[in-house]
Amino acid sequence: MLKLFLISLLLLHVKCDFMGLFSSKKDADNSGNGRVVGGAKSENRVPYQISLQMQKKEGNSNPGFLGGMMQILGGGGGGGNFSHFCGGSVLNENHIVTAAHCIKGFNTSRMAVFAGTNDLREEDKGQRIMIDSCEIHPDYVELNTSDIAVCRLKESFSMGDNITPIEMGTEHIEGGEECLLTGWGYTSRMVIGRRIPNELQEAKFYTITNEECNQMYSTTPTELCTKSKGLEGACNGDSGGPLVCKNKLAGVVSYGLMICGTNQPDVYTRVSEFTDWVQQMSSM
Ligand SMILES: *[C@@H]1O[C@H](CO)[C@@H](O)[C@H](O)[C@H]1NC(C)=O
Ligand SMILES: *[C@@H]1O[C@H](CO)[C@@H](O)[C@H](O)[C@H]1NC(C)=O
Ligand SMILES: *[C@@H]1O[C@H](CO)[C@@H](O)[C@H](O)[C@H]1NC(C)=O
Repeated sequence: MLKLFLISLLLLHVKCDFMGLFSSKKDADNSGNGRVVGGAKSENRVPYQISLQMQKKEGNSNPGFLGGMMQILGGGGGGGNFSHFCGGSVLNENHIVTAAHCIKGFNTSRMAVFAGTNDLREEDKGQRIMIDSCEIHPDYVELNTSDIAVCRLKESFSMGDNITPIEMGTEHIEGGEECLLTGWGYTSRMVIGRRIPNELQEAKFYTITNEECNQMYSTTPTELCTKSKGLEGACNGDSGGPLVCKNKLAGVVSYGLMICGTNQPDVYTRVSEFTDWVQQMSSM
């Protein structure tokens, strides 16, 4: 029942995501100590985190749908000709993993990956590489299962301290595990009209069992949920980004409620269910 409700919410939400809206962290207005809805600025480099970006259309006096919405919504962050819209993780020098809903229906030839810095404004420090192609998981069903995609880059990252791959977690994560969520998503619960942060945000979350999560959503075993103790959570712009548990990639941000950080669980794609597929796609 709730799922039906969520679907209409999420359709809107997915569109918003694309425009740079969904994320996770603290309400800056109330806390002053960070921007992720309930989180804080990442003090350390998070070398596996990437920003998935869309090239703005040229001649922006009439910027078209994306550019126009970006301006209205204040999305974007950093790089003049590109706008952040989703997160992702580095798999190797040529591949990243993100959410299927960040890719499906969008023109991948205008997408780039920006990596190597926590600050989206640091054009000289980061590396931006256009996407060559993406593989969406064949079983992907919006808000139900397999919200995961692997993208290949046109050129290789120059790997080093600032860009390193994250190992995929093969272990089945149970409830009560402490995990780290990072992203450039919105840092306020009400996302409309806000700007996304330029600096990467992070927050700790605890996993809950799917059984517990099903009190709110109807999850499948391909999903993993977290809950925060307070008003924290993933939000627009965090989609596709990494949830890291026990130093391995355990989740890919998939969905939550439209109003971020409401003390309701957030849902991730359960990476341990997809390691073989991801491995295969990232070796092509
Ligand atoms: C943005 O694109 C325009 C036209 O392609 C180019 O002249 C300009 O240098 C670019 N700006 C940045 C910051 O890369
Ligand atoms: C995708 O974007 C590229 C580059 O801007 C453009 O040439 C192409 O026509 C676009 N494809 C679609 C289906 O819109
Ligand atoms: C949701 O995913 C499960 C597998 O994880 C599948 O059995 C089920 O048919 C899917 N439901 C819909 C509505 O697609």
